[in-house]
Amino acid sequence: MSTPRTSREWHDLDRRQLLHPFTDINTYSTTGGRVIERAQHVYIYDTDGNEILDGMSGLWCCGLGYSQDAIAEAVYKQLGQLPYYNSFFNCTNDIAIEMTSRLLAVAPKHMQRVFFTNSGSEANDTNIRLVHRYFDMLGKPDKKLIISRENAYHGSTIAAASLGGMKPMHEQFTGLSYVHHIQQPYWFGSDRKLDADAFGLQAAQALSHKIDELGEHNVAAFIAEPIQGAGGVIVPPETYWPEIQRICNERDILLISDEVICGFGRTGNWFGCDTYQTKPDLITFAKGVTNGYQPLGGVMIGDRMSEVLASGGGEFTHGFTYSGHPAACAAGIATLQIMQEQDTIGHVNTTLSPHFEKHWFALADHPVVGEARFKGFVGALELVRDKESGERLAPKSAATAYCRDVAIESGLMIRAVGDTIICSPPYVCSLEELDLLIERLTNALVRTSREFGVKQ
Ligand SMILES: Cc1ncc(COP(=O)(O)O)c(C=O)c1O
Repeated sequence: MSTPRTSREWHDLDRRQLLHPFTDINTYSTTGGRVIERAQHVYIYDTDGNEILDGMSGLWCCGLGYSQDAIAEAVYKQLGQLPYYNSFFNCTNDIAIEMTSRLLAVAPKHMQRVFFTNSGSEANDTNIRLVHRYFDMLGKPDKKLIISRENAYHGSTIAAASLGGMKPMHEQFTGLSYVHHIQQPYWFGSDRKLDADAFGLQAAQALSHKIDELGEHNVAAFIAEPIQGAGGVIVPPETYWPEIQRICNERDILLISDEVICGFGRTGNWFGCDTYQTKPDLITFAKGVTNGYQPLGGVMIGDRMSEVLASGGGEFTHGFTYSGHPAACAAGIATLQIMQEQDTIGHVNTTLSPHFEKHWFALADHPVVGEARFKGFVGALELVRDKESGERLAPKSAATAYCRDVAIESGLMIRAVGDTIICSPPYVCSLEELDLLIERLTNALVRTSREFGVKQ
């Protein structure tokens, strides 16, 4: 338990001692942030007594909200039974085996094996190791290059950040030389001279061009999120994924579906690859797999890679102390059980999503909204000064930062990414709570347009 302290004491200690992810260290040292001390259902509570409706499901991970006692109990019970044992050196533990089976049961049929990590970033590092090993074992050692996309987010270790395509991240470190990037399928961010479907095809064909440029015999894999989450909920045009799949099939390129955000229901199915009907060779998972109750990530490995990897060739020299941690796996099993028993995805698809989607798309009528995107149970709003031309509010990102801050002040947690507002509500919201979310967001949009002088 933490020491009893006043809100001010928490703030002071925090800003002086804790380094926060993706935060301006200098500014934060003076301004500080918001200290969250408890959560219930779909609400988070800070040390100043504010109640905030969590429109982001934590960091996309707490889709089942914060009051899932069965997950907490499963973790507690597991810690009493077997708090730790590793899966190195010909050992394993029963709960990791159970979790693997439960996971494969909800995964696409061709997924055959699982490698556990603690996070999505480590899982994407693992993908690179698996892909390189696979082609080495096939006697194609030149196949080492990985193609990813601009503005992708695949995590924050050196390898995962290299896979990612976020400029501000690349400016702060030297990325891996064997990762290359192509354009993203961000239609609203393009010049919009093509219609969305034609643009989707063109964006997918960038993969083919990059393979030509690098040489097919050198290219190992293409990695992508079904819907880019952290990049701004970029829902690709319907033409995009079928063309990507076609190219991967024809060009002997492995497909890695990074489902750290899209997995476990966010796009309306268990996995984003189910929604877009692709057949990835590797699936990265994390976040929602334990509803955020424990750190757990990993990679699911499809049939053709599984067969080769298990066909001989000696030790796979990769792993983490906590791969298959019993408490994390117990949380995962409990999470999957809740989602299956309560038919969470079915409930979202039949009840929550149709209701919310209608209100979400209606936000596109607001003068400051240039485009509203929505898929499954995740949405984005593009903020603009002028709907027709798509001219942005200046300076860049200022309006979304304002809108987000106003929303949080009024009791709604949403996120701003560049000029895009994004939202990823919990699956356990009531219809009334979704209405409250829309009401608070609408008020934030009204205040933003007033602040930035956009005509109502
Ligand atoms: C698509 C995607 N991949 C990987 C990661 C990295 O996961 P983690 O933060 O658990 O390392 C994230 C995190 O947001 C993500 O959105």
